[in-house]
Amino acid sequence: MAAQIIDGKQIASDIRTELKAEVQLLKRKGITPGLGVILVGIDPASISYVTAKGKACEEAGIYSDDNRLPVETSEAELLALVDKMNKNPKIHGILIQLPLPKHVDEQKVLLAIDPAKDVDGFHPMNVGKMVVGDKAFLPCTPHGVVQMLIRSGIKLDGAEIVIVGRSNIVGKPLANMLIQKSPVGNATVTVCHTRTKDIAWHTRNADIVIAAAGRPNTVTAEMVKDGVVVIDVGVNRIDDSTKKNGFRLVGDVDFEAIKKKASYITPVPGGVGPMTITMLLYNTVESAKIMNKKSSMTP
Ligand code: GUN
Repeated sequence: MAAQIIDGKQIASDIRTELKAEVQLLKRKGITPGLGVILVGIDPASISYVTAKGKACEEAGIYSDDNRLPVETSEAELLALVDKMNKNPKIHGILIQLPLPKHVDEQKVLLAIDPAKDVDGFHPMNVGKMVVGDKAFLPCTPHGVVQMLIRSGIKLDGAEIVIVGRSNIVGKPLANMLIQKSPVGNATVTVCHTRTKDIAWHTRNADIVIAAAGRPNTVTAEMVKDGVVVIDVGVNRIDDSTKKNGFRLVGDVDFEAIKKKASYITPVPGGVGPMTITMLLYNTVESAKIMNKKSSMTP
């Protein structure tokens, strides 16, 4: 079987077109969704993420307040900026690019964000609401994964799903979303991690394998059954002297071997990646609607 490639760029583009139309409607009512972005330091990956987020906002018609601060910015200065954004009615969502420098208590700064503007879905208030199945901002990457599965027509109800990776940003929230008693959940979920005795024993039985371990070749063809659906959340830089920048991006799965066995698979790049920013735009537009009392926030 040759797998069907799940085109993340196309799905992201479809959602962004829907969002653009919603933003136009809101603007006609005098509401412009706004995103406040904070980047501290000069980490190249963080700069490229934040630049992409700003560009995506502009394309969708969302106002973006881009704050790029020096690495020596103090925790107190950051907290003051978050407080200012919390009070600014033009800003419906706040995004603090992680990681923050070591001298800053990341949790303290994330906790200072008004949960009603927490479009990253990292505030414990939103995490707790998500776990109990209340309406909440869902973290962007796992929400993007769920949207990709749904929009590709993949059945979640009753599916055996194995997630490899237990991060706070992907593995843990994704497992919680997929077990919800909901038409877009209802799966049986196993979370594997670095202390799992035999990851292959779990993945071989899975209808859907989601790799979010941050390590190339974590999932190989021998570890999955025929017809499996594979979602690759990994983004790893591999040295490649044939490339101008000296590296290429690979995911966490052996794409070439698994695509011969799977029914669906996501590529890297062009799979989950474009979905993360898209769901950030989605949450920002939702927040603007909620603040202006016309929302149907997930679920
Ligand atoms: N750093 C890596 N991924 C993310 C993300 O999804 N949100 C934020 N704020 N920072 C990140």
